[in-house]
Amino acid sequence: MSDPRLARRLLENLTTAVLLCDTDLRLVYLNPAAESLLAISHSRALGLPLDAVLTIDTDSALALQQTLISGHPFTKREAHLRVGLRDIVVDYWVSLMSSPSDATQLLVEIQSRDRLLRIAREEAMLASHQATRQLVRGVAHEIKNPLGGIRGAAQLLSRELAGAEQREYTQVIIEEADRLRALADRMLGPRRLPTMSQVNLHECTERVLALLSAEAAGRVTFVRDYDPSLPELMADADQLIQAILNIAGNALQALLETPEQKAPTLTFRTRSVRQYTIGARRHRVVIRLDITDNGPGIPESLRESIFYPMVSGRAGGTGLGLSISQDIIHQYHGLIECESVPGCTVFSIFLPLEVGS
Ligand SMILES: Nc1ncnc2c1ncn2[C@@H]1O[C@H](COP(=O)(O)OP(=O)(O)OP(=O)(O)O)[C@@H](O)[C@H]1O
Ligand SMILES: [Mg+2]
Repeated sequence: MSDPRLARRLLENLTTAVLLCDTDLRLVYLNPAAESLLAISHSRALGLPLDAVLTIDTDSALALQQTLISGHPFTKREAHLRVGLRDIVVDYWVSLMSSPSDATQLLVEIQSRDRLLRIAREEAMLASHQATRQLVRGVAHEIKNPLGGIRGAAQLLSRELAGAEQREYTQVIIEEADRLRALADRMLGPRRLPTMSQVNLHECTERVLALLSAEAAGRVTFVRDYDPSLPELMADADQLIQAILNIAGNALQALLETPEQKAPTLTFRTRSVRQYTIGARRHRVVIRLDITDNGPGIPESLRESIFYPMVSGRAGGTGLGLSISQDIIHQYHGLIECESVPGCTVFSIFLPLEVGS
């Protein structure tokens, strides 16, 4: 290929992660798909040894050395790699390449199997999520319709009743009707039309942090790990704040309900990710917000279902918070994912900047 810009664009648009190492197995290049797979930026990764960004099994480490010595390429299927705290399953290809200066370089191409599984799972999740949301909205409407009548009748009845003791009963009906109405309103979710404007995500996270700090009253440490170059988004700021607050509020509750937790910490981390697929859509740039807490983690029995409405692990919880967040983020063609083990729960919000090809 004679046009180096075309070659570069091709590499930047590949969904396969491409890494280039020198003979000491230090990184000299990685494409955006590799940046997102390894959760590290190009500038940070350059010069690092390969095993600093991912842990490979001994078999693969030996095979890499062999390729360097013999020059024979090799392929490995369903290899298990560890990236930070994540285990990923990948197919990968390793071959030798000569650079223009004739120095030998190792070319590693990685195709994540998890990613393919993830895309399929996300599509299924979004579809079933929408179906359940619709069901819940339908139920909420049905609950709300007769409530006005019940409340009104109880008020009329209360006027007819002579004794204060009897009026206590009508008061119970009125209060319970009000409680049910508030619940039905939450089940219906945000109903006003969004007011779109250019939004800086950090302004939203700062609003949420201000609210949470007041609630935590010094019992939790809040950490900000912001990417200051994050571009602005076209969105409704109040809705984004609501979506983030529901997630971070859960994290804070989990921390506060575990008083034995040492150094309870809630971290907000923002990054921009290039070439990211959500559902069936590929996006050129996606903003990622990770909300991490070191609390007890999501109970295992709930892990697969927390985004469904009415699923709650808390006494007094309505189980609507996360489903409302997912609904809001979905409106912007984004997605929320969650990974949780005891001591580390991460909710990641992905928001595309623009819809790509
Ligand atoms: N960071 C977290 N750590 C531990 N458990 C969590 C965390 N986030 C969510 N959960 C679990 O997921 C459940 C569902 O959360 P969701 O916000 O949808 O509902 P809720 O908090 O129970 O009720 P609501 O938000 O409607 O008041 C929670 O009840 C809790 O068990
Ligand atoms: Mg909640």
